[in-house]
Amino acid sequence: MYSTRPVKIAGMGYYVPPNVLTNFDLEKMVETSDAWIRERTGIRERRLAGRGASTSDLATEAAMACLRDAGVTAREIDLIIVASASPDYLFPATACIVQHSIGAVNAAAFDMEIGCTGFIYALATGAQFVAAGMYRKVLVIGAECLSRLVNWSDRTTCCLFGDGAGAVLLVEGSHGEGLVAFHLGADGSGKDLLSLPAGGARMPASSETVEKGLHYIHMEGKAVFKFAVKIVDAAVTKVLEKCGKTPQDIGVLIPHQANLRIIESACERFGISRDRVVVNIDKYGNTSSASVPIAMCEALHEGRIEKGDLVVLVAFGAGLSYGAAAIIWS
Ligand code: ACO
Repeated sequence: MYSTRPVKIAGMGYYVPPNVLTNFDLEKMVETSDAWIRERTGIRERRLAGRGASTSDLATEAAMACLRDAGVTAREIDLIIVASASPDYLFPATACIVQHSIGAVNAAAFDMEIGCTGFIYALATGAQFVAAGMYRKVLVIGAECLSRLVNWSDRTTCCLFGDGAGAVLLVEGSHGEGLVAFHLGADGSGKDLLSLPAGGARMPASSETVEKGLHYIHMEGKAVFKFAVKIVDAAVTKVLEKCGKTPQDIGVLIPHQANLRIIESACERFGISRDRVVVNIDKYGNTSSASVPIAMCEALHEGRIEKGDLVVLVAFGAGLSYGAAAIIWS
């Protein structure tokens, strides 16, 4: 961190909707198979938000769980940052909707959109506000309703994504622990590899964009896969360098849950055994900005993270973007 105030995580919470869509359900919707999806991605099932629910609803549930965990009231929150690639609207910000729904009447609120890397960017941003002394309690949320943006007749993308949200509360910590390093990056030359082409100012929604399906997620899967394998390696290496650690020091690796093969490649590269890496892609699929905080919450609840552990978070996604964070658990 570039400041005098150390920053730590004081509470966490997550929410996944109860509706489960299994690979067998998908077999009835598109030409695919449970075996193909499991072998190529590691996904068995995913959760989908209920009818009428949206990203802010999932974010609200995760935020409330986080506040209960931290023993903090909504009125005490100074800032809410929501990372999402599937915000309720282009504007207003989903963070403002969450601010109202949880009753955080004293909080500023804004969104960050940087694809699946959103939570890492939001964590780094939120940490700066605490580190600088501008705010004392910052709620960082990763929340997604990607099921609303997926073309359910496109087998190459519809099997990958799921809905969910995760939240953490950032407060001032003690020196030598908490969020000790970040590494963020982007390569905008890959902007077309993963995008939702229509509905923004570049290509406003029209009957033609709808006919062409340009309001759905488009992804060049193979190219994104290659980028991901390379960049997970580079981002983890950089963040470890920044805090003077080595791969052997990693207690728990929490990667973005996009594809089990990407995660396995990182484990192999860094010599990390499977018991030190958190994997829940089988249950939730790719929940984009929500995947890292959900996995971190589950790992903590399962007793897999202990005080003093070096926890490394890493994510990548649309942009193309990437980021890693190192935490000495406190
Ligand atoms: N069921 C059956 N067959 C399928 C399916 C499916 N669901 N999807 C694709 N196929 C077919 C293809 O049509 C292709 O058939 P063909 O050879 O006759 O043309 C064949 O399977 C192989 O397709 P590939 O795309 O080459 O398969 P690949 O092994 O690359 O796996 C996948 C595809 C899973 C999408 C992979 O490329 C991947 O995970 N990429 C990374 C995605 C990612 O990490 N995204 C993260 C960012 S997300 C964000 O920021 C929102």
